[in-house]
Amino acid sequence: MENLRILILAAGKSTRMKSKYAKVLHRVGGRMLIEHVLRSARPISGDIWVVVGHTSDKVKASIPEVKFVDQGEQLGTGHAVMAARDQFADYTGDLLVLSGDVPLIAADTLKAFVDFHRKGGYRASVITADADDPFGYGRIVRRNENEVDAIVEQRDATPEILKIQEINSGIYVFDAPALFKSLTKIRNDNAQREYYLPDVIGILVSQPERVGAFKVRSAAEILGINTRQELAVIDLLMRRRKCESLMAEGVTIIDPHSTIIDGDVRIGADSVIYPSVQIYGDTVIGDDVTIHSFSRISNSTVGPRSTVLEGCIVVDSALGEDVSIGPYAHLRMGTTIDGKARVGNFVEIKKSALGSGTKSMHLAYLGDATIGCDVNIGAGVITCNYDGVSKYPTVIEDGAFIGTDSQLIAPVRIGRNAYVAAGSSITDDVPPEALAIARGRQAVKEGWAKNRKKK
Ligand code: UD1
Ligand code: CA
Repeated sequence: MENLRILILAAGKSTRMKSKYAKVLHRVGGRMLIEHVLRSARPISGDIWVVVGHTSDKVKASIPEVKFVDQGEQLGTGHAVMAARDQFADYTGDLLVLSGDVPLIAADTLKAFVDFHRKGGYRASVITADADDPFGYGRIVRRNENEVDAIVEQRDATPEILKIQEINSGIYVFDAPALFKSLTKIRNDNAQREYYLPDVIGILVSQPERVGAFKVRSAAEILGINTRQELAVIDLLMRRRKCESLMAEGVTIIDPHSTIIDGDVRIGADSVIYPSVQIYGDTVIGDDVTIHSFSRISNSTVGPRSTVLEGCIVVDSALGEDVSIGPYAHLRMGTTIDGKARVGNFVEIKKSALGSGTKSMHLAYLGDATIGCDVNIGAGVITCNYDGVSKYPTVIEDGAFIGTDSQLIAPVRIGRNAYVAAGSSITDDVPPEALAIARGRQAVKEGWAKNRKKK
């Protein structure tokens, strides 16, 4: 929207969270609170400023592409906006103020709100809602159907005002010069000894200026997070919504209550998600995939018709079509598993590529390995990729057969269709089509046990 700057208040200490970190860094639905607010803010205006204070270095590092205002000491929401006074001195447009701890607000609501403010010709406007339980929120003292007289904080309210169920969302739009002029008049002579931003509303009304109130239908959209309990409530709400939208798109989720799926995850139709599965980050799952219980998949892709059996951990990896992994497989750091490959019980794979049709079914460690198509990795095979200082690569060409309990001491290359005999310690390259045996020869001493007993 034209002539609109956004200021997000995110400097608070999160006292009620009992946390070392700024409140806006805590996560719901897999994203930091501040990231939720930014996602709703970005479609409205590109001119976004964030007030930071408590653990500001961490907050700054976690949100690129915005400008920052430093609030040295956190003396209240009014004080937070005041911290921007010098940087905003030349700005004469509208200022949309958002709370970093109100994550469910939708971009469409913000747009309708600014339209309401501009059409009504108000000096300031606030988003409100009727709450079943208004405890803890500022109460809206109404003038009429569209306008406000004042906002009173819970801790400063008379019993009469506490009966009001219409709450302040902490989201406002102001004519910027009028805001900064009024801010010089607020005092901290209240229950919390803080400079309250909502006090500006009463000051503007007394000028007299008109202040608009834009009531949203559901208080759920403006829920604020002040405690870990509220964090859990909103997290659950977001998780439910995600499961519901996936089910609406054709995904079977057997137990939505125990399933955790982040907001950005995509899953194709006719996929089935068993109970207690967690899918995080930018994960993309194709059609007809089955994910069994107790598996965790982060920032990975899973191709169509693949199966993830119980208890797998998949991080930053890519599975092709018709792949099967698990139970209890661990894939990480850019591992790729091509079509029809199979990875079985207790196999760990790090930074490696498995070609199509390749199998590693039991108890293996494959690290820094490039493995071709239709390779068979026997039970207990280990790539010895680390000498305590550096990591070394292993290459296994198409069609090779690595016998059980072999160690491939990297750097090493096993040629196309070559065989490694079971129990070998391979230190040198094996040419294509060859057999390598690298183990001590067996000696058999006839009658040895019987003789020992006689002694
Ligand atoms: C605030 C409002 C209340 C409203 C509620 C909605 C005030 C005084 N009260 O109360 O009317 O119903 O939000 O959720 O504004 N912050 C700073 N610097 C500070 C203090 C706070 O940046 O010095 C930031 C916080 O990080 C937070 C936001 O401002 O993101 C709101 O502060 P918070 O202390 O949570 O206000 P509430 O008590 O919830
Ligand atoms: Ca709050």
